[in-house]
Amino acid sequence: MRIALGVSGGIAAYKAAELLRLLQEKGLEVQVVMTRNACEFITPLTFAALSGHKVITEMFGGAAGASNVESAIEHIALAQSIDTLVIAPATANVLAKMANGIADDFLTTLCLATKAPLIVAPAMNVNMWDHAATQQNLETLRRRGVRVVNPDDGYLACGMTGAGRLADPQLIAQSVFETLGLSEDLKGEVVLVTAGPTEEPLDAVRYLSNRSSGKMGYAIAEASRRRGAQVVLVSGPTREDPPAAHTFERVRTANEMAEAVLRHAGKATVVVMAAAVADFRPGTVHEGKIKKQQGTPVVTLEPTTDILAEISRHRRDGQIIVGFSAETAQLIENATAKLHAKNLDLLVANDVSQNGAGFDVGTNIVTLLFPDGRNIALEKMSKFEVANRVLDQVVEIRRKSGV
Ligand SMILES: Cc1cc2nc3c(=O)[nH]c(=O)nc-3n(C[C@H](O)[C@H](O)[C@H](O)COP(=O)(O)O)c2cc1C
Repeated sequence: MRIALGVSGGIAAYKAAELLRLLQEKGLEVQVVMTRNACEFITPLTFAALSGHKVITEMFGGAAGASNVESAIEHIALAQSIDTLVIAPATANVLAKMANGIADDFLTTLCLATKAPLIVAPAMNVNMWDHAATQQNLETLRRRGVRVVNPDDGYLACGMTGAGRLADPQLIAQSVFETLGLSEDLKGEVVLVTAGPTEEPLDAVRYLSNRSSGKMGYAIAEASRRRGAQVVLVSGPTREDPPAAHTFERVRTANEMAEAVLRHAGKATVVVMAAAVADFRPGTVHEGKIKKQQGTPVVTLEPTTDILAEISRHRRDGQIIVGFSAETAQLIENATAKLHAKNLDLLVANDVSQNGAGFDVGTNIVTLLFPDGRNIALEKMSKFEVANRVLDQVVEIRRKSGV
C-alpha cells in the first residue's frame, strides 16, 4: 500500500520523521510531500534518505528551474495512486486552505485531487488552536470525513502550555492503520451484522421487498473483519458478492432473519443492524401463483418481528447495539425516536431521498445519533468509509464503557 505523508511548516515537522519510520515498519510505501515552509524546519534530505524517494516540495520548477516532481501532472498521478494522505504536522494555515478548497501548492492541490481518505494531525500554538477560525475549519473537515488526530495538551515549543502539541506519532500511525484496515482495534469483538433487504412472499412467484442492495452491511462486515473482529454476517437476498466472514448465513424473510439473528446474538459483543428488514408482510401466502382470472387480489399486511426491539430486549452485558434508519422525511426526529425506543448505543440515520445516499449506490450520507443527544452529520463518502466511521464510534463506546 502506498501513502502520502504531508509535512507542513511547524516546529513539530521533525516528528514526522518518526511517523515515517512507524509507517514503513508496517510495510507501507511512503511518498513525502513538504510545503515550502516545512523546509525551513527540516530538510527534505532527511525524508528522502529515510523514505528512499525524492521528496516533493514544489508544484513547479523551483528557483533554479529544476522541478523535484517526476512529471508535470505528478499531483494527479500521486493523487490516484495513494491509499491515504496523512498530514502531520498540519499547520493552522494548511487546515484553513483545506477547509476552503485552496490549492496553491503541491500538498493542498493533492488534498483536492485525491479521493483517498485524508487524515490530519494538527500542531500549533494554543491560541492558534483555540481560535474560532481554526476550530471552524476543523469542524468543516470533520464533516467532510477527514479524520482529525487531536493534539495533546502540554508544554508547547512557544513556551505556553495548553492544547496544540502534535499527537504522539504512534497514535497518528494507528489512525493511518485503522483507515487502511490494518488495525486490530476490534480484536476480541464478535460483530454480528445484518445486511440487504428481506423478501416477503405473496404467492409462489411474487414477493414484497425493497431497494436495499446490501452494500452498507457488507461494508460494515468487511471493515469489522479488517479491524480484527470475528464477523457473523446474516444477509437477505442481494446481487453483491458477500465479503469474507467467519460465519455467513443467507436468509430470505424478516422472520428468518429474526430467527438467525437471535440465534447468533448470544455470542455477539457488537450488533450492527444494517439490513432493510420488511416491517410488514402479506397476511396469507397463496400456494402456487395467483392467476389473473381470479380477479385483483386484496392483500392484507401484518407486522413482522421487530428484530432490533427483540435484540435490545435480550441484550447481554456489555453488548453494543447499533441500528440503521432509512428515512425520507424528518430524518433527525424519526431517527431519534427510534434510537430511544429501541434503546440503542448508536443510530446511523440516512435520508434515502438524497442523491448519493441510501439504496443501491456506493456512497452514503449519514448522521450518527447518540443517546446523550450528540449527533455527527457526515458528508457524502463511500460506504466503506461510513463503515469505518461507525466502527470508530463502536471502539469509542467500548473504551468509555470500559467493559
Ligand atoms: C518558529 C516558527 C514556528 C511555527 N510553528 C507553527 C506551528 O507549530 N503550527 C502552525 O500552525 N504554524 C506554525 N508557524 C507558522 C507557520 O510556519 C506559518 O503559518 C506558515 O505560513 C505555514 O506554512 P505551511 O502551512 O504552508 O507549511 C510557525 C512559525 C515559526 C516562525
